[in-house]
Amino acid sequence: MKIETLRWTDNKLEMIDQRILPTAFEYLAYDSAASVAEGIRSMVVRGAPAIGVAAAYGVALEALRLSASTLSSALSLQGRGSMDVDFNAGMEAGFTVLAQSRPTAVNLFWGLKRMRGVWESVQGQPNAAVAQRLLAEAHEILAEDIRINRAMGAFGAELLADGARVLTHCNAGALATAGWGTALGVFRSAVEAGKKISVIADETRPFLQGARLTAWEMVQENIPVTLITDNMAGFMMSCGEVDAVVVGTDRVASNGDVANKIGTYMVAVLARRHNIPFYVACPLSTIDMAIASGADIPIEERSADEVKGFRDYHWAAEGVSIRNPSFDVTPAELVTALITEKGVVRQPDRDKLRALFK
Ligand code: MRU
Repeated sequence: MKIETLRWTDNKLEMIDQRILPTAFEYLAYDSAASVAEGIRSMVVRGAPAIGVAAAYGVALEALRLSASTLSSALSLQGRGSMDVDFNAGMEAGFTVLAQSRPTAVNLFWGLKRMRGVWESVQGQPNAAVAQRLLAEAHEILAEDIRINRAMGAFGAELLADGARVLTHCNAGALATAGWGTALGVFRSAVEAGKKISVIADETRPFLQGARLTAWEMVQENIPVTLITDNMAGFMMSCGEVDAVVVGTDRVASNGDVANKIGTYMVAVLARRHNIPFYVACPLSTIDMAIASGADIPIEERSADEVKGFRDYHWAAEGVSIRNPSFDVTPAELVTALITEKGVVRQPDRDKLRALFK
């Protein structure tokens, strides 16, 4: 089954509603920057690369929407000058609402920066032409993301031995990207290359991306997968049942520190304790060379309701105080290697990361 996390249908963006998987499989349709921003904020779409692609479509949708509405106001006898002011102000508002949707995954800001660059390159052209150019760029970002995942998959597959039992945390799969996946893309590529791989999926409290999404993807793909709760990882490692860890990331700082789903740091510490390689599948769009270290990465704090229980059912004692940081930072020293589309970077540091962008 080919998983199309995001797709362009009838001049709208459609995204799989990841909040209801695996109980139900449904697409929701989006037609503006504000609606896409809400889709990102509410976790209809999640995962760093998928968020970046969604944001790019959000910009294109806003341009299409504004060009249609400014055209109709021009036809009702407003001048071209005011039409452009409306369009440009509307676009700026669209960029702002998208940038405010979630803070940690740098792919969001990477996608917006790329779309702004394209917008600036076609300033002065008719608004409808600008919108079409932005839509073409969003399509290209989506296609490119799948190509990049395939390239990372091929490099990563070489790191896994035939028969490897690989632990992953959260969901860095097709659902977290435009398709194929980063960490799960490595597993798919290894299987495609003829290796027998089995996956151990951490449940990933509190949003259960592992239990709901990674387990579902691997079951669809017929890749053997075993679900564990997050607090079982150390036991599994101590029993010699984990050969490698592969995770995705939301932002890598210029010194190689890795932000990923809360609990990843704990897994990395355990992996080091048990001499198990800890790999991070990371497209270049997730590397933030503008920040010195993981201490500069904004960590999203989500609603207490996610920790109190799941969906509408709450089991925590009423009145208890709750923290819900959604990501943590694994220091570069615990990372065996980054798997990028340009190759494998062992023991990442600032010089090695800088070299990737030359
Ligand atoms: O809160 P989420 O579900 O957006 O968090 C996702 C993760 O932490 C993923 O591991 C990361 O974005 C990499 S996805 C290829």
